[in-house]
Amino acid sequence: MHLGKSLLVFVLLTVFLSCGIECKKLYFDQLRKNLFFNDPKEPVENSAASTHWVLLVAGSNGWDNYRHQADVSHAYQVVRKHGIPEENIITMMYDDIADNRENPTKGKIINHPHGPDVYKGVVVDYKKHDVTPENFLAVLRGDEEKMKHIGSGKVIKSGPNDHIFVNFVDHGAPGLLAFPSSQLYAKDFIQTIKSMHSKNQYNEMVIYIEACESGSMFENLLPSNISVYATTAANAFESSYACYYDDERQTYLGDLYSVNWMEDSDSEYLNMETIHKQYLVVKKDTNTSHVQEFGEPKISRQSLDNFQGEPGYDVDPRPNMQAIKFDAVPSEDVPLAILYNRLDNTNNPSEQQILKDKVKALIKEKDEVEDLMKRIVRRVSMMSNRHFAGLMGASHPLTDHDCYRTAVDVYDQHCYDISQNGYARKSLRKLVNMCEENISPVVIVNAITKACKN
Ligand SMILES: *[C@@H]1O[C@H](CO)[C@@H](O)[C@H](O)[C@H]1NC(C)=O
Ligand SMILES: *[C@@H]1O[C@H](CO)[C@@H](O)[C@H](O)[C@H]1NC(C)=O
Repeated sequence: MHLGKSLLVFVLLTVFLSCGIECKKLYFDQLRKNLFFNDPKEPVENSAASTHWVLLVAGSNGWDNYRHQADVSHAYQVVRKHGIPEENIITMMYDDIADNRENPTKGKIINHPHGPDVYKGVVVDYKKHDVTPENFLAVLRGDEEKMKHIGSGKVIKSGPNDHIFVNFVDHGAPGLLAFPSSQLYAKDFIQTIKSMHSKNQYNEMVIYIEACESGSMFENLLPSNISVYATTAANAFESSYACYYDDERQTYLGDLYSVNWMEDSDSEYLNMETIHKQYLVVKKDTNTSHVQEFGEPKISRQSLDNFQGEPGYDVDPRPNMQAIKFDAVPSEDVPLAILYNRLDNTNNPSEQQILKDKVKALIKEKDEVEDLMKRIVRRVSMMSNRHFAGLMGASHPLTDHDCYRTAVDVYDQHCYDISQNGYARKSLRKLVNMCEENISPVVIVNAITKACKN
């Protein structure tokens, strides 16, 4: 026994001393994870009869949002590599990145500065204008009839023993997730899940969401007794962060929370790590926002292969590819950060001038969006006899989803397209404040339409 232990230490030491710097990093990484994040794993019952389904969604478009489709393509690789058959994966993404005219590596998408092409082999079931909240919910609830003539028509045909893994990556705002031209409201999402639960359409569901204010999709909404466990990149009040600016592509390659969970999954045996442990690892590594968990904690005691793969389908992990992510920027500032990065990288005066003009225009737009919301709040404060500063500065959790939805829809229709304008999404916080201070939606809607008339 004693001899065995000495031998083990000797072998480990020799391996450590003889391995390169990358390998030493990996070694420490493993050590750190195993020392600090160890937790007991629950054995899983009857996983044999269970089919695993995966729904992957990137809700944005355009080159500045490269990272969302890169994240989702990478997620596709993770679940394929761990044994989920193609027919059980449904992918929704606008699909305008790989062949974008700004893509210097046509047909390829990467999610890491030195990473492989993650677009290779990705089957996109719903693209362009088929990426909508209505289609997302229909796919999730297995509505074949609705999807019959749309995209590939594939839906999640899950039964009472099945596992579902949902990964959504995009922009968000309080109580909503953005899609390329409209938005998914938290209440509709939760309602669909509850209805699926009551119809026995799944055994357990795990949801990972990367978006600003993503905590607000579940906070006070997702019960802990419908067999769903969810984690989000941010709490209900803050941005999520982009990372990995790439000089060649002139855009960000990933989002911090997303690359953190996937780089963890890529470098682990998925049957050896629990979902809970991944949550802790990602929470620690995503230090620009507060990674949250919701729903039924018991589910997270299972190993990752119960959702991100097929049990018994093991592949060797690759060395951890973590690279420097200190360039993380809040999602709404990404277009501006891209322009500043481009400015840093050019000496051509005429190009510099074009970029400076774009910076100016963007800052002007930001000011306009903020001024407009101030006018709305001022009008509401006068009509309802409340303090302007109070309505501007409050930070209430969203509970009155109906009032808020009414206000957002009108703002989206008359003022700014919130799926395309990050500053507009940020300003929706003020609509939450007004709804939560019990101001009638009629008053709010009136102020919005008046302010945005022209
Ligand atoms: C979950 O718990 C809530 C609150 O206790 C209860 O109203 C609801 O019926 C429960 N739902 C299920 C599916 O058990
Ligand atoms: C996050 O962690 C990185 C690396 O440890 C550090 O450089 C950075 O300052 C941290 N950011 C915040 C907001 O704490």
